[in-house]
Amino acid sequence: MEMIQETKTSLFPTYKRWEIAFEKAEGCHITAGNGKVYLDFMAGIGVVNVGHGNPNVIAAVEKQLSKGWHGSNLFHFEIQEKVASLLTKHSAGDLVFFCNSGAEANEAAIKLARKHTQRTKILSFKQSFHGRTYGTMAATGQDKIHEGFGPMLDGFTYLPYNDLAAVEREMDKETAAVILEIVQGEGGVVPGEDAFLHGVQKLAQEHGALLIVDEVQTGIGRTGKLFAYEHANLSPDIVTAAKGLGNGFPVGAIIGKEKLKDAFGPGSHGSTFGGNPLAMAAAEATLLEVLNDGFLQETEEKGEYLFSLLKEEVGRIPGVKAIRGRGLMAGIECEKEAAPYILKLQEKGVLCIPAGTHVIRLLPPLTMTKDQLLQGVEAIKNVISE
Ligand SMILES: Cc1ncc(COP(=O)(O)O)c(C=O)c1O
Repeated sequence: MEMIQETKTSLFPTYKRWEIAFEKAEGCHITAGNGKVYLDFMAGIGVVNVGHGNPNVIAAVEKQLSKGWHGSNLFHFEIQEKVASLLTKHSAGDLVFFCNSGAEANEAAIKLARKHTQRTKILSFKQSFHGRTYGTMAATGQDKIHEGFGPMLDGFTYLPYNDLAAVEREMDKETAAVILEIVQGEGGVVPGEDAFLHGVQKLAQEHGALLIVDEVQTGIGRTGKLFAYEHANLSPDIVTAAKGLGNGFPVGAIIGKEKLKDAFGPGSHGSTFGGNPLAMAAAEATLLEVLNDGFLQETEEKGEYLFSLLKEEVGRIPGVKAIRGRGLMAGIECEKEAAPYILKLQEKGVLCIPAGTHVIRLLPPLTMTKDQLLQGVEAIKNVISE
């Protein structure tokens, strides 16, 4: 493994960094400073969905760069309208607000839900992850994320995921919204069951509460649909997106239903950089790639291939407890901690990340070939079997 002499750093130690220096990335490979090439099964953290250095995304950003990279949201930007139209045409929503990250998108969703309903109670789920701002940290159902930062923003109740009876007990006329991930990512790659997701939507509708679906990790093709809620035929009131939306260029968005329009009138919410033309150029090019004929279907097929490989090759190894996920979002739950496996995989030239403590998480670029998927699974099999 590459060793980096890290005697002094000028960075806050918020991240426990690996001993790999990122030098360059292309397609599904990352090259380290020492020349070692890695097969990338993490794509940022589920970000670089259409591949590192995607030529169409680069060309779109370069073209926009020469025209101007910042105005302000006091101007009309045709490119913002184009991206917003792509998002609304291909989702349950009608109106878009642009921001710069997943946390900002969820923060906006929470604000919008409270303002529209004039209620403050929000149901969230244990092991969820929604971000690191005060609002989204409070929405996150994990004590370790809250630790040391209290008091939290009031109003959140954390329920067991996939437990409809718990939602039924807590949902009432005071409830502004339910916020959930279709597949819990950071919490261990846990898919929501269709009956649960439908039941939550129905209960929310019956009580005048909004359904907020956090698609920050599952969106932009990750599970084989543009948004993962499509698998369950949901119609969320608010969808949040970020990560894959700009293929690595920072951009976030919320897509909301028409009925929410008045709650986000002039002066209610804003962002200096949200919707900036460079981010919009990256987002438009990325969306066009993902929405290109056959791309999502191919992703779904590759997902099925990945899961058949994982179940066949990895699922039977003693020490592997479960294989979970959807599309190209997979989790391998192990009896032992995931971190040592991840380091061993790095030695073998494969990059992936943990989800929670015991799950190896795979989030390859959606452009990864079947041969490369097989190569990665073989490495995982060897490492866990050793
Ligand atoms: C489901 C989900 N929501 C929100 C976030 C926060 O996104 P960001 O780090 O862009 O603020 C993440 C990040 O991992 C996520 O996975």
